[in-house]
Amino acid sequence: MAVAAGTAKLDARAIRADFPIFEQQIHGKPLAFLDSAASSQKPQQMLDAMTEFYSTSYANVHRGVYLLAERATAGLEAAREKVRAVLNAPDVREVIFVRNATEAINLVAYSWGMSNLGPGDVVVVSELEHHSNFVPWQYVAGRTGASVQMIPLTEEGELDLSALDAIAARGIVKVVATNHVSNSIGTINPVAKLAAWAHEQGAIYVCDAAQSAPHVPLDVQALDADFVAISAHKMCGPSGVGALWGRASLLQGMEPFLTGGHMINSVSLEKTTWGELPHKFEAGTAPMAEAVGFGAAIDYLQAVGFEAIEAHEHGLASYALGRLGELDWITLYGPPAERRAGIVSFNVEGIHPHDVAQILDMNGVAVRAGHHCCQPLMRKLGVAATNRASFYLYTVPEEIDQLVDGLHAVRKVFA
Ligand SMILES: Cc1ncc(COP(=O)(O)O)c(C=O)c1O
Repeated sequence: MAVAAGTAKLDARAIRADFPIFEQQIHGKPLAFLDSAASSQKPQQMLDAMTEFYSTSYANVHRGVYLLAERATAGLEAAREKVRAVLNAPDVREVIFVRNATEAINLVAYSWGMSNLGPGDVVVVSELEHHSNFVPWQYVAGRTGASVQMIPLTEEGELDLSALDAIAARGIVKVVATNHVSNSIGTINPVAKLAAWAHEQGAIYVCDAAQSAPHVPLDVQALDADFVAISAHKMCGPSGVGALWGRASLLQGMEPFLTGGHMINSVSLEKTTWGELPHKFEAGTAPMAEAVGFGAAIDYLQAVGFEAIEAHEHGLASYALGRLGELDWITLYGPPAERRAGIVSFNVEGIHPHDVAQILDMNGVAVRAGHHCCQPLMRKLGVAATNRASFYLYTVPEEIDQLVDGLHAVRKVFA
């Protein structure tokens, strides 16, 4: 493995060699993959772990008493323990495998929200939320009669916490749900402060960590969250699996989200009783191979070190903001480099973000264009869409140079 365990600096060039996707060229150019916030690329170690599982240990889990089923179950449960460890969760039964962060948040919004929200209650989100941490709350609030309030943003794209008291005066705050890192403009939110404020109100704090778990050390106990949602595909793992961590005391009191096989204790015509945690929330066949891949991805990231990943991306964000800031035809969005993760959103004067992204693609540069599932934020910024470049542990500064060269090419096309 091309990593530098325990050291402050990572070697992105060596790490890149672990990712087969970078062996190809795109339109005859080296691939500058600047879309890791949407989904990350995959190291060979993770791909090998899934292939090995399918080749040697595949069977359905939990229900079998034969060797292959036992191996598969051991693989799934070992992955659960890796997720517990990477989040520093107190108890492995609190880790629930889901399809992705969106499903994790829906699970909480439905299972907790439908039983605990009502007229006069307030769900607090922020203007920075991904739709995945806004629409489920809006929907459940609509069904229960609760209201949804948004923490507004400052001009620099950071949460304006001075608005919290006014929000609390609008009803009984029952839920505070925010992301840790904005997928759109890279803002790092003061999540421990928000959790503390939520608890002062007697509310639960739900952390959408989809965009932070891949990049920074996370500790659900230090954060004092009640629920945390993550997706494997943004963490060098496969698509199709994510995790919800929740406090056992809350999960135990909640109704199930999905019902069916595996999540039951006993079933009869008259009555069905639910299984223990985590199975109560894992109806149907588990994402077994995906969980094994998730575990291998966590191993990979931990071997590199989350502090090193965070520092590396921080350096890239500073570099990108510096280089793009030299171009007076680029508008940059979001906070200064020292208060943001490896995500840079921008617009090119007079050129639609989709056109920009398409021409960049011809130059081998993959960036995202659109509203990034953040329409309330786009409204606040006064734009319909932006371009977004996002970085990860395998990103090298030359890819940012390729982006800047590509942007000059975009300007020429539209000159
Ligand atoms: C901050 C944030 N929350 C939630 C999600 C949803 O993740 P998923 O699509 O894996 O459910 C994303 C995905 O981009 C995100 O960036």
